[in-house]
Amino acid sequence: MKLSFYIHIPYCIKRCGYCDFNTYTPAELGQGEVARSEISSRYMAAVAQEILRAADQFDSSQMPEVPTIFFGGGTPSLMDPHDIAATIEKIDEVFSLSEQCEITLEANPDTLDERNVAGFAAAGINRISLGVQSANQKVLATLDRTHKSSNVTRALDLAVSNGIQGRSIDLIYGTPGESVADLEESLDFALSLPIDHISAYALIVESGTRLARQVDSGEIASPDDDEMAEKYRIIDERLEQAGFDWYELSNWARSAGARSRHNQVYWNGGNWWGVGPGAHSHLDGRRWWNIKNPISYMNALKEKSTIIAGEETLDESAKHDERIMLGIRLREGIARSELSTKQEEVVSKYLLSMDVDERAWSEGRLTLTLSGRLIADRIVRDLVL
Ligand SMILES: C[S@@+](CC[C@H](N)C(=O)[O-])C[C@H]1O[C@@H](n2cnc3c(N)ncnc32)[C@H](O)[C@@H]1O
Ligand code: SF4
Repeated sequence: MKLSFYIHIPYCIKRCGYCDFNTYTPAELGQGEVARSEISSRYMAAVAQEILRAADQFDSSQMPEVPTIFFGGGTPSLMDPHDIAATIEKIDEVFSLSEQCEITLEANPDTLDERNVAGFAAAGINRISLGVQSANQKVLATLDRTHKSSNVTRALDLAVSNGIQGRSIDLIYGTPGESVADLEESLDFALSLPIDHISAYALIVESGTRLARQVDSGEIASPDDDEMAEKYRIIDERLEQAGFDWYELSNWARSAGARSRHNQVYWNGGNWWGVGPGAHSHLDGRRWWNIKNPISYMNALKEKSTIIAGEETLDESAKHDERIMLGIRLREGIARSELSTKQEEVVSKYLLSMDVDERAWSEGRLTLTLSGRLIADRIVRDLVL
């Protein structure tokens, strides 16, 4: 059996105005005066405890092998490289890492320097995913980002010189006020970087965020759906021209080997253990999620009480719906044999509108065309509701 690990790091130096991830500044957690190295070692000690709890769930003679580890956040690059190394060693000690284990660290460009990049590489990080979002200063200001593009270039050059082979960036498109020229500027910049993978996300106005308040008050316009679709087309065209193929709606890679293996575990219904506050796990159709608040999570571990906030077991019909929801987002799509007669009827409508690829369908697979990718959510709703 294989088991991937997601390690959640719930800290950021500052919360970006659009982000509603389960992340906090040390001050918000009442740790404002605590040194960063101390926050890192305390938190990663809790992570190690959960890894041991995970190990207890398996028969010691049949410990799963770990094909991927993903340190996500929040801002994992704020952690001390020694603590990241200790976490990887702990997983290897109680489980065992696959020979080519993919180990990704999400990073904020402002947090990387010569010392910690060398440390992360030495710890075993072989893939880095950098939050770039945009190269345009006006867009970055609307997004409430603090970083400069020069920090992105420096961080990726450091990743190259330290032998970190997998290098990806995140972009956000459709920020109110972003012109097509601003987006082109970000794409030019992205394509000048030493990367093999790009994730591009449409800006979502999450309720409760600063951005949502600005949109509600009229200070910032609401993102426009038509503009989003137009920008998605531009991104796809530019990236395909530059040799990046889409393999999931929001993800493009220079080669099949550059695809995120960890994310493919999620999309293909694999097993993973999510460590940390608010992290979700999935094991053979059973899912559960942890207590959201980092301090409560750490206290529960210390007190040897449960850290699980909720759980559910998917029945066969829910598993099937999920395979459709996730599979339709992938270039490979879904096997036609997975669909009921009623679902085939729904597909015929989208074949007529050329949102479903006719050739792939005749060969037994449901895959989306570019226009279909733009309305993927609607197609999924029609198929599973
Ligand atoms: C954990 S962050 C990446 C690492 C690091 N924290 C950073 O921001 O530089 C994950 C990514 O989610 C995306 N994201 C977060 N909130 C979003 C939103 N409201 N709409 C679209 N993308 C969002 C951003 O592209 C971000 O880089
Ligand atoms: S986008 Fe990244 S840096 Fe900004 S608040 Fe979210 S997790 Fe933190």
